[in-house]
Amino acid sequence: MNKLKVLFACLLLFALASCSTGTETKDKKLEAKIDNLLSQMTLQEKIGQMNQISSFGNIEDMSGLIKKGEIGSILNETDLQKINALQRVAMEESRLGIPIIFARDVIHGFKTIFPIPLGQAASFNPEIVEAGARVAAIESSSVGIRWTFAPMIDIARDPRWGRIAEGCGEDTYLTSVMGAAMVKGFQGDSLNNPTSIAACPKHFVGYGAAEGGRDYNSTSIPERLMRNVYLPPFEAAARAGAATYMTSFNDNDGVPSTGNAFILKQVLRNEWGFDGLVVTDWASATEMIAHGFAADSKEAALKSVNAGVDMEMVSYSFVRHLPELIKEGKVKQSTIDNAVRNILRIKFRLGLFDNPYLEEDKPSVLYAESHLATAKRAAVESAILLKNDNETLPLTSKVKTVAIVGPLADAPYEQMGTWVFDGEKAHTQTPLMAIREMCGDNVQVIYEPGLAYSRDKSASGIAKAAAAAARADVVLAFVGEESILSGEAHSLADLNLVGAQSELIAAVAKTGKPVVTVVMAGRPLTIGKEAELSAAVLYNFHPGTMGGPAIADLLFGKEVPSGKTPVTFPKMTGQIPLYYAHNNSGRPATRTETLIDNIPVEAAQTSLGNTSFYLDAGFDPLYPFGYGLSYSTFTYGNIKLSSATLKKNDVLTVSFDLQNSGKYPATEVAQLYVQDKIGSVTRPVKELKRFTRVTLEPGEKKTVTFELPVSELAFYNIDMMKVVESGDFGLWVAGDSQSGEELVFKVID
Ligand code: BGC
Repeated sequence: MNKLKVLFACLLLFALASCSTGTETKDKKLEAKIDNLLSQMTLQEKIGQMNQISSFGNIEDMSGLIKKGEIGSILNETDLQKINALQRVAMEESRLGIPIIFARDVIHGFKTIFPIPLGQAASFNPEIVEAGARVAAIESSSVGIRWTFAPMIDIARDPRWGRIAEGCGEDTYLTSVMGAAMVKGFQGDSLNNPTSIAACPKHFVGYGAAEGGRDYNSTSIPERLMRNVYLPPFEAAARAGAATYMTSFNDNDGVPSTGNAFILKQVLRNEWGFDGLVVTDWASATEMIAHGFAADSKEAALKSVNAGVDMEMVSYSFVRHLPELIKEGKVKQSTIDNAVRNILRIKFRLGLFDNPYLEEDKPSVLYAESHLATAKRAAVESAILLKNDNETLPLTSKVKTVAIVGPLADAPYEQMGTWVFDGEKAHTQTPLMAIREMCGDNVQVIYEPGLAYSRDKSASGIAKAAAAAARADVVLAFVGEESILSGEAHSLADLNLVGAQSELIAAVAKTGKPVVTVVMAGRPLTIGKEAELSAAVLYNFHPGTMGGPAIADLLFGKEVPSGKTPVTFPKMTGQIPLYYAHNNSGRPATRTETLIDNIPVEAAQTSLGNTSFYLDAGFDPLYPFGYGLSYSTFTYGNIKLSSATLKKNDVLTVSFDLQNSGKYPATEVAQLYVQDKIGSVTRPVKELKRFTRVTLEPGEKKTVTFELPVSELAFYNIDMMKVVESGDFGLWVAGDSQSGEELVFKVID
């Protein structure tokens, strides 16, 4: 009997161990090394490890601090010689020889700049996203950076928020897949590999829901929404092995993330088993004073450390106040020890103790040909064709003269997008350069920008641009945003094209020549008016170093667009927040509502028969989530479910025929959406559950299958338990979130 009990206990332990996330499985030898080192450290040295500084001071000051063991990490140093020199001080002149981790915001490339993350998400291709992160890791690690503050996986449903550019858009599933791909790309096969850099999913958590899209603002995300929408990408990143996390600036429901034990301890450590390190955002510990959550920097340190923060970025409250807080018994010695263990664990995993220095005379890998080729592929796959009347695109050999207008046609700095510290505009290839090269002597290119930069309001150049348009067979108008108009602290209240860009489009369209509007921006813009005046619209979020050649290939048909919107495009800013996975409300819109111009004068007051919509904007967006055209067309048919009734541990197989019904070899992003019809709490009208890129020759038909375990229909229910609830589900397979015929299946107990 006893033997049976022991056997049962062993089986249970085995089952529990194999259920844990990758980060939880601790290596005993490593833990012993960490404990051994920790036992030799003074309190000052331990607190020193918890201190991250920025490399703005001079090397002498820094060396002094490093010698005393007062610095755990340095951000923003990118000079290989300096990094080696500082590391030598840490390894050879500090008492215990603990290496420094050098960190940098390597967000969408180091030198070779990839499309901004929102653009990469439009590819719906986790492989190209992983490849991009790998390139970024290879380039940045080659100068000594071993830690990036990326991926940013904040769900953003408000494009006024400038930082929407840095993430993967509005959808929880898409962001989870892309975030995990970036973690894998940055960290490679093993952190120990010298080309691997530790990832840092950020900002933990809820930052993308900033009130009104104003950066740094408060968020109001109740626990269920937090768990169903905002947390899953971070959990997926933990499962992908993310080494570190960064807290966010926002206070959610009154609690700043840097002081939020519920998310840092309960969710991240206890529920997900994370054993890496947590760093604050830039001074977000002491910003809790401005929040009104800490009276002074001492209380900021107290609240951060006790909430579960391990390392403080640049605000020094830990080094200043932790010794005293420990003496007063307000912070436990064991809390400090655990934080230092988390930091040392990552330093050991990165192999920094064994391999602290870099060879200085190795051949450069920066801007390697293969890196540029991957960046170009990413830019090709990130472009979204929003409109293409009369097959204006691709441009054919009938086109003998093109007029290129607009401030973004030749703006090498701007097309790299936000969060670029290291990429150089001298290496950027613009659309103008690439089109000129492609056209050679065959097609005449007239370049007349009309405006000097996106915010340029002076209309003086517009007439010249219109004159150029009049002489051409087709007009290519490159408009959008300069890179500084999106990103951190760059929110907008109005998403129309800035400056006189709208006037420019109107003027060239007036010539009667077909206008192809090519947008490069950090967010979806409200371009309905300009799209109407254009024959075709190709939308690129800032496409990076190789944006020019990618766009030229797309315009001239060497490549076929395949990107899909990773975020809903509103018609007007007032519709925001606008996202496809909304709840239905008690009065869902019918799209037959009376809009503002059809309401009679002195209409009688009534709400009867009315629904949830805007009188002036109606209900629909300009372009829905998941939308994007191709030069070809696709037909979906023969959609079959493996069973109409499933148990909770079953796997649903959805198969369908996808045919290329057009004349170009092309790639379609097929998407699977599901709706849980009745729940213990209301559920979104649709949720993306699977997607895949399918490449087909003209006329070719393939049978595609999606496997969806029923367990992935689970959500946090009325009792805050993650469960699959039995009942009816709707299912759609389509090329965007608004298309497709509904099928129904049932989940039973
Ligand atoms: C940003 C972070 C970034 C950090 C370090 C902060 O202002 O919010 O995303 O990683 O600075 O540069």
